[in-house]
Amino acid sequence: MNIKSYLIGIVGATGAVGQELIGLLTSRQFPVAELRLFASPCSAGRSVDMGGKKLTVQEARPDAFYGLDIVFFAAEGSIAKALAPEAVKRGCLVLDKSSAFRMCADVPLVVPEINLEATRRHQGIIASPNCSTAVALMGLYPLHQRFGVKRAIFSTYQSVSGTGLDAINELETQIHAYVKKETLQRKVYPYQIAFNVIPQVGSFGADNYTDEERKMREESCKILGLPALKISATCVRVPVLRAHSVAVSAEFGKPVDLTEARRVIAAFPGAVLVDEPEKLSYPTQLDFSRVEKCGVGRMRLDTALDKALSFWVSGDNLWKGAAMNSIQIAEAMVREGIPLRAPEFVTKWPLGDAASCSLGLAGLQWFVFRFFGRLAQLVRVPRLHRGGRGFDSLSVHQPVSVPDCFCSRFLFPIMKFVFAAWKNFLAQTEVAADRLCENFLGSD
Ligand SMILES: NC(=O)c1ccc[n+]([C@@H]2O[C@H](COP(=O)([O-])OP(=O)(O)OC[C@H]3O[C@@H](n4cnc5c(N)ncnc54)[C@H](OP(=O)(O)O)[C@@H]3O)[C@@H](O)[C@H]2O)c1
Repeated sequence: MNIKSYLIGIVGATGAVGQELIGLLTSRQFPVAELRLFASPCSAGRSVDMGGKKLTVQEARPDAFYGLDIVFFAAEGSIAKALAPEAVKRGCLVLDKSSAFRMCADVPLVVPEINLEATRRHQGIIASPNCSTAVALMGLYPLHQRFGVKRAIFSTYQSVSGTGLDAINELETQIHAYVKKETLQRKVYPYQIAFNVIPQVGSFGADNYTDEERKMREESCKILGLPALKISATCVRVPVLRAHSVAVSAEFGKPVDLTEARRVIAAFPGAVLVDEPEKLSYPTQLDFSRVEKCGVGRMRLDTALDKALSFWVSGDNLWKGAAMNSIQIAEAMVREGIPLRAPEFVTKWPLGDAASCSLGLAGLQWFVFRFFGRLAQLVRVPRLHRGGRGFDSLSVHQPVSVPDCFCSRFLFPIMKFVFAAWKNFLAQTEVAADRLCENFLGSD
């Protein structure tokens, strides 16, 4: 079988999510032809290990995306806003982990087990949800499919790795300082996180909910395709290094049945049922760190709401909540033959791909030879007679140098334009060639 390999970029490769992306691309054997790592200018030149191979980190700049098929963005939203459109312009599929584009109408927000079909209408950027949202929906979605969710209340228990590498260092440093009876320093969180819980994740909005709580509400509605779904969330940071848990109380349209609820969770591809209270069996954050699926347990009939269930979901925020979800999107798109390139970038050739490619290349070759032939003639020949009128008055027998101002004002800009047009043309040709190969040989 002809397995296509992809040229991949990671922006934010030195961060908590970026490091997981590098590891998961290797361990999941994603077909990577070349991997380019990007971060801030401070990290440029740093060496990163990928399966025993040393890769050098480059500064993330628009031109660095040229030629890549997929770029995973694992950096702050402001960086994604500035650079993701540049990557799309250069023909890349952007899989973004930040919140920059999640609620944009033309950007699919995707959890592959729930709404993979949304990727079919992407315009170059596909967003991956907030980590707590992804984890919570691994329990809520299968129950919604069976009973039809009407409202849900989320309470989160979020690990410090959700804030990134600096927060992991802060918790570890505070624990060491506590053990040594030294003063505990804090930089990332407004309160000491070691031996504490902080009922604030993100910054507060005018309605006194934090932006993490707003994201859980809005993103759940978008992913489930239920704009009127009522959700309320309370997001809490706990002194755990990795993985989040969410306590969910959900009310449904149909009467609920605990045995049936457990059955649908057990049958759902994104979840593992861990729910035997008599054996003290339920999911914990440690048990679901570096685990592909999310654990669902503590399932019971809710005593405050009608037709409602309460349950607990634990999942790895850096995997299902971030890096792995993005990779699963790419894997599923490749598997389903969903085009990676945005439709507007894939040029519709008037005569069909094969004829247009050949004609285009022949035409370009003719133009380039004509242009440089004329240029060579010009450099060999030209000296304008005093008072001469353009090329008509050139003497063929008096070779002279081309004046500097002619080069800087006319020749170089024209050459620059021709090369830019050529570069663009080659990119378009590559897309058409890709499509041809896929049509004739199949994508895998
Ligand atoms: N952590 C999670 O569980 C999680 C879950 C879901 C979504 N997310 C989202 O994923 C993104 C990354 O989170 P993280 O936890 O991995 O953060 P992080 O550990 O702080 O890493 C941030 C990354 O961004 C890079 N960066 C900073 N400035 C840059 C610039 N100007 N150009 C290019 N790269 C730059 C950093 O590079 P340097 O090392 O050079 O500074 C670093 O690689 C954020 O948008 C976050 O909201 C995170």
